[in-house]
Amino acid sequence: MMEYNVDTDFFHSWFRNYVESFYTEDPKIQQNIRLKEEHTLRVCKEILRLGKALKLNGNALRLAEIIALFHDIGRFEQFTTYGTFDDRMSENHATLGLKVLKATNVLSRLTKMEQTIVYNAIEYHNVRRVPDNGDELIELHSKLIRDADKLDIWYVVTNYYTERHRQRNPALELELPDTSDYSLCFVDDLLNDRVSNSYDLKSFNDMKLLQLGWIFDINFTPTFFYIQERRIIEKIITALPDTEDIRKIQNHVTDYLEKRISNIRKATRF
Ligand SMILES: [Fe+2]
Repeated sequence: MMEYNVDTDFFHSWFRNYVESFYTEDPKIQQNIRLKEEHTLRVCKEILRLGKALKLNGNALRLAEIIALFHDIGRFEQFTTYGTFDDRMSENHATLGLKVLKATNVLSRLTKMEQTIVYNAIEYHNVRRVPDNGDELIELHSKLIRDADKLDIWYVVTNYYTERHRQRNPALELELPDTSDYSLCFVDDLLNDRVSNSYDLKSFNDMKLLQLGWIFDINFTPTFFYIQERRIIEKIITALPDTEDIRKIQNHVTDYLEKRISNIRKATRF
């Protein structure tokens, strides 16, 4: 247990120092560096909460927290260099993160096997589908970070949608045009339980629809309960135009969530 604290303390202080090296007087950049710093620290809490709900052992929790701490480490260099979080306009932030971790060798105190798990989970945290590479621990940790990351992005964007009229942050909108329409492929995906492709994004509303569809990519039971508790679906829907399509989507996605939750209830009754 001692080891656990020593380790995570070291990684947390390394992370803090690393991020502080990107701090700047430029408020537009600083705001976004802080945004990702705070996001990361909340994802660490989410992943521990999720891991504990799943009754993972101490070592799995320790690795999960390290993955959460480093999953977006590429974001700081990405924003400083390119001024955007849009991977399409810059580079893949997960790959960039791996470069940072390998160049600094910050994970050297982990075993080779642990390093492989951390590297793979980070690489897979933002891919459309986690590849099946046959390693159970890599799969577990990839799924954990993907759920925890989504929970916090939902937290960030739903707050943003209600606060946006007060202060806009174009980086959080990927600079997409805020028109009143949306692309029909996103509607079609949502009604067919599919996660959309971020390469199809054409408007700010598309981004909200994409984020709604992440619910089809959730891996663990407790995450569905968190989505319900935090009223994620309702909050995203409120930020979208009031049309027939959107009402259909709301019903469909709400049904999906209720089904996932009631299946769980049924399964745990026995
Ligand atoms: Fe990320």
